[in-house]
Amino acid sequence: MLRPIPCATALLLLLLPAFTAQAEARQATRHLEPNTLVPKGVIHYAPTGFPDRIVAVPMQDASTGFSVSWRTDAKVDAPVVEIAIASESPDQWDGDTPPRRVKAVTRALPTANGAAHHHHALVDGLQPDTLYAWRVQGDRTWSPWRQLRTAAPAGAPLEFLYVGDTQNKNASLTTRVMFEAVRHAPKANLVLFAGDLVSEAVDDDEWGEWFDATGALATMAFAPAPGNHEFFEEHEDTPQERRVLGEQWKAHFALPGNGAKGVEPTTYWFDYQGIRFAVIDGTSALDLDAASTQAEWLDGVLAGNPNRWSMVLIHQPFHSPRGEERNKRHQVLRDELMPVMERHGVDLVLQGHDHLYGRRGSDGGVPPVYVVSVAGPKQYLVSDDARATMSPVGEDTQLFQVLRLEGNRLSYEARTVTGRLYDAFTLVDEGDAGKRIEEQREGRIDERQCSRSRTLGGRTDRCWE
Ligand SMILES: [Fe+2]
Repeated sequence: MLRPIPCATALLLLLLPAFTAQAEARQATRHLEPNTLVPKGVIHYAPTGFPDRIVAVPMQDASTGFSVSWRTDAKVDAPVVEIAIASESPDQWDGDTPPRRVKAVTRALPTANGAAHHHHALVDGLQPDTLYAWRVQGDRTWSPWRQLRTAAPAGAPLEFLYVGDTQNKNASLTTRVMFEAVRHAPKANLVLFAGDLVSEAVDDDEWGEWFDATGALATMAFAPAPGNHEFFEEHEDTPQERRVLGEQWKAHFALPGNGAKGVEPTTYWFDYQGIRFAVIDGTSALDLDAASTQAEWLDGVLAGNPNRWSMVLIHQPFHSPRGEERNKRHQVLRDELMPVMERHGVDLVLQGHDHLYGRRGSDGGVPPVYVVSVAGPKQYLVSDDARATMSPVGEDTQLFQVLRLEGNRLSYEARTVTGRLYDAFTLVDEGDAGKRIEEQREGRIDERQCSRSRTLGGRTDRCWE
């Protein structure tokens, strides 16, 4: 027998189509945000005599040096870095001794914002665990003094950041992620980026915005992995189409130069306070036939690791939270590189590319733990397969990760852009018994799911763009 519908429910059912129509009308007034805040025809990021895009990258041994790169206009050639042990005094001279000067190598880069000169300088011979003050030279001027601490010897407590793709709308929407990340990792001197820093490899406005967005991290050394968006398609849509690394990548980062043969500009490794980090170029592995050469190189890098810990940073995930199609495409990574990582007991594999959050252990237990995360605003959808094999997963959420190594414990936490705890666990080194994972569920918020049926641009296969 049919029951009568209560009055309130009946009224709600009557009004629901009107509410829905109103909500849809409101949504229709919204427009997709452009990829940068720079209006068409406006030059905002022209190079000048004032140094900008200043960034330090760890040297192979991060306790004794770092490389610096910066940009000026084309009037500046072979400028210098000035560096001294940081003083409490505004005077960076040590008595009669002026700051050390290191001359840079300059490369020219024509861009839509004008002719730029990018300068690279290797500052080596530094003391471990020491705070240095440094500045870079422009045209009759200098950058502000910055401070950077070199890595301490292995065994000292370490805090650092890892972030996934930033890629789009960096000034508008990535900036707040970086400010929140610094609040939660105030002692961090190192940040890892899992690639796709920008969307268009050679778009100078996007690079300008990326450096603005990451300005909050200016006291840290940057270790970036290249993503597919750091490459562009040469001869696009022709049989000769191939991916080519954008000159901006090489201009903006003075990397250690110890990478795999033929993939030197985009692969490297370094030791940082008890951890060996290896950075892989997933795009070259997948699209430029450079998987086996990187596997061979990685084997050597990990075999020679004197540390108890190792991590791999790569853009494309070994296990994709987006589903089977993606996984099939990444098979070569699993065939060539995964056996090397598992043989050497890599602890963490830090990844991006899928614009989601997802964590899973290796099929044989831990280590490694595989993590995919995203910092920027582009948001995709988690596949059913990933919901069955990864935990936690997340959609529609901007994130950053804080990692801490203290004694035999490596703790990991993923936090949302508002600072809430999303995922947390600890790897415990039990010596000869190996490493085990301790889950931390306390304080985590629930898994987040996309609540939109389409993006503002009308796409139903994404949550936000
Ligand atoms: Fe990507």
